[in-house]
Amino acid sequence: MEKRANFTSKLGIVLASAGSAVGLGNVWRFPTEVGANGGAAFILMYIACVVLLGLPLMVSEFVIGRHTHKNTADAYRQLAPKSGWVFQGYLGVFTSWFILCYYSVVSGWTLKYLLASLSGEVTSTPDSAACFVSFTSSPWAPLVFMVLVLLMCHWVIRRGVQEGIERYSKLMMPLLLLIIAVLVVCSFSMPGSREGLRFLLRPDFSKLTSSVVLSAMGQAFFSLSIAMGCLCTYASYFTDDARLMKTAGSVALIDTTVAVMSGFIIFPAVFSVADVAPDAGPGLVFITLPNVFQIAFGGVPWLGWLFAVMFYLLLLLAALTSMMSIHEPVTAFLLERFRLQRRTAASIVTLSCMAVGVLCSLSFGPLKDVTLLGMTFFDLFDFVSAKLFLPLGGIIIALFVGWKLPRALVQDEVTNRGTLHSPLFPVYLFLVRWVAPAAIGLIFLNELGLFR
Ligand code: PHE
Repeated sequence: MEKRANFTSKLGIVLASAGSAVGLGNVWRFPTEVGANGGAAFILMYIACVVLLGLPLMVSEFVIGRHTHKNTADAYRQLAPKSGWVFQGYLGVFTSWFILCYYSVVSGWTLKYLLASLSGEVTSTPDSAACFVSFTSSPWAPLVFMVLVLLMCHWVIRRGVQEGIERYSKLMMPLLLLIIAVLVVCSFSMPGSREGLRFLLRPDFSKLTSSVVLSAMGQAFFSLSIAMGCLCTYASYFTDDARLMKTAGSVALIDTTVAVMSGFIIFPAVFSVADVAPDAGPGLVFITLPNVFQIAFGGVPWLGWLFAVMFYLLLLLAALTSMMSIHEPVTAFLLERFRLQRRTAASIVTLSCMAVGVLCSLSFGPLKDVTLLGMTFFDLFDFVSAKLFLPLGGIIIALFVGWKLPRALVQDEVTNRGTLHSPLFPVYLFLVRWVAPAAIGLIFLNELGLFR
């Protein structure tokens, strides 16, 4: 049998996994949630969720992937043959594919905005809102950009684990981190930025209701790419000397830092421009920020242009590395289960996502009145994957690793067969066995609207 590919270095492992975690969820969704949910109070809650729930689950997925060195579906088949747990393996692969279908729509928008910022359109249009709506609702343009980003992702995945994923993560992630640093400094140096910082850092504990706490958990899971099959697949390429807890810690640290820094970029900038009201959701980065770019650097238009170009490049890089991580689990599954060539497997994934992505993309235009259960295709895909499959997968993974897998197997993986001293192992096991299933169960019920 052909030797299975591995990541070649620890840096590659951390950067590829961090590439998966750092995505649109950090740069656009996190700041919005912080703004809506009480500033620093939400950030504190979020960090608690990352540490107490996100980290243990990430380590659990690493255990499954690294122990089996198989794609997610086959990993569960090996660990619990002919049992109901095998379902989770397929669910992971399917969720990845499903998310890719709509994630690539918004990723396509980031490419469009990068090009539009390069050409100066973003910083010169008088009405950013109208511009955004006319772009997303037109039938062809967003489709073309969706296809383009999928092709970029395909191009990387086709090259394989080392030459593709590892190599490009090592290239894109440092660039992304550098851009973040530059933008934070720029944003802080804007007049009036203090107001934005105050907004971000003043904890408003009165807003900390149970539903906010649960949103923080949901955001933490989505942002860390938990329960989607991708961490498990990436871990199947980890080398035997990779330290699972340490890797998970680094990934969570990078992910959280990028999320908080994105808040530091966006809010001071937005507040430095008094007459621009912060918008929620996609509006924040595609409507509010273009207005900010135009006004904030009043006297010096090229500075606004540069800020815009860097910002959308950052978004595109973040989106691409995350797309790679949800493309790969499906590709790896097809490739290994059906013994296809990587090229063929990757093409099936890319083409099928394009086909289904059309529905998601058109739901902002020609198909906006076509609804299922009261949701457009895009909203339905988002709801089903992020709000149903994600918590469901999270609970199953926690129960599987906490209760089904032999404790010795888990301990062996976490301690690299006893060679590492892991004083935190009992704490980890406690969190996975008790805290995670209970907490995710609550998120699940909350997302389904049972507490409203
Ligand atoms: N974690 C990514 C983000 O923050 C999203 C993602 C989800 C990526 C699931 C891969 C898998 O945007």
